[in-house]
Amino acid sequence: MRKLFRSLISLTAVGAASFAILYWMVLPLLGAAQAPPDLSGLTGDPKRGAYVAAASGCLACHTDKKKGGKPFAGGHALTTPFGTFYAPNITSDPKFGIGGWSVSQFARALTAGISPRGEHYFPSFPYTSYSAMTGQDIVDLKSYLDNVTAVASAAPRHDLIWPASDRRFLGGWKWLYFKPAKRLQVAQVEAGPLARGAYLVNVLGHCGECHTQRGLLGGSSSTPLAGNTRGPGGGKVPAIAGMGRRAKGPWSKDDLITSLQMGMTPTGDFLGGSMAKVINHSTSKLTSQDLAAISGYLLSLR
Ligand code: HEC
Ligand code: HEC
Repeated sequence: MRKLFRSLISLTAVGAASFAILYWMVLPLLGAAQAPPDLSGLTGDPKRGAYVAAASGCLACHTDKKKGGKPFAGGHALTTPFGTFYAPNITSDPKFGIGGWSVSQFARALTAGISPRGEHYFPSFPYTSYSAMTGQDIVDLKSYLDNVTAVASAAPRHDLIWPASDRRFLGGWKWLYFKPAKRLQVAQVEAGPLARGAYLVNVLGHCGECHTQRGLLGGSSSTPLAGNTRGPGGGKVPAIAGMGRRAKGPWSKDDLITSLQMGMTPTGDFLGGSMAKVINHSTSKLTSQDLAAISGYLLSLR
């Protein structure tokens, strides 16, 4: 009898604790506490913004190339274990795009993953990497997107399995896996080629979103850039840290630059899959100075 009573009590305790955790996870706006970046006094340069957009791969995700979609009009499908995400329209259309957004709303979306309505964004939008973006790059990006031709159409809604489909759970997810980064200052990212390379790889290029292993709940957990067994579409993504020390054919700085510029590897193969898109839309558009910075940084990693 006593035993039964005791197990009933512990069951109730476990039940209450689970309920508390669930309730807390559902609370919206957890993790929203990050102060909005101070962008006052910054003026955007659309030309620089176009370069930031290329380095950050915005076009690749927000354009439905397969169906001949207009630039940034959304609709590109991202298949994940949780279902299919469709990147939204981020053209300057005030109704279907983000034309009506203020620069601070844009900054909050990009660096904290929070919409103007206060909802959490799914991390399929890599704000987890963009979080440390400099204020200047954000303002430049915004002025570039403000000049993108408006497209008045909506992307399809995401097609996700429950509970992944419920944005409110993202508060708990963010608490576990997302630490809004300290915003970097221009002086820091321009401090030298290594700092610039780190910024291009970890923040703008969001290379770790594919090249770092993710856990079952989709959080990046292990050694950065050491490879990923569950990449986009379920494929394997190779390690890009320690490439200079590979037992089977180490890569030189020039090998890396060539692969990022035109997709060719030292053995004469061409990189394919999602990396071909990254090269097409992003790294092939970068200056040789930036490619050298990326390569130098990658080779500096253990
Ligand atoms: C890996 C694909 C991917 C990349 C790269 C990407 N996005 Fe997105 N983005 C998404 C997805 C998916 C969503 C929808 C997230 C959601 O519904 O929670 C999104 C949402 C957004 C939103 C919110 C739009 C709205 O209507 O609420 C903005 C703004 C945005 N992205 C801007 C950008 C910018 C700027 C870049 C480049 C710096 C970028 N994105 C790069 C996939 C991507
Ligand atoms: C959308 C996912 C994705 C992103 C983002 C991404 N990569 Fe890749 N990357 C891949 C895949 C997949 C491969 C394997 C391609 C193949 O073998 O054909 C790859 C291969 C590579 C390789 C060749 C490695 C080898 O051993 O052959 C290099 C170098 C590389 N990526 C660098 C980068 C850099 C630098 C960035 C950031 C600017 C980046 N990648 C961002 C998916 C990605």
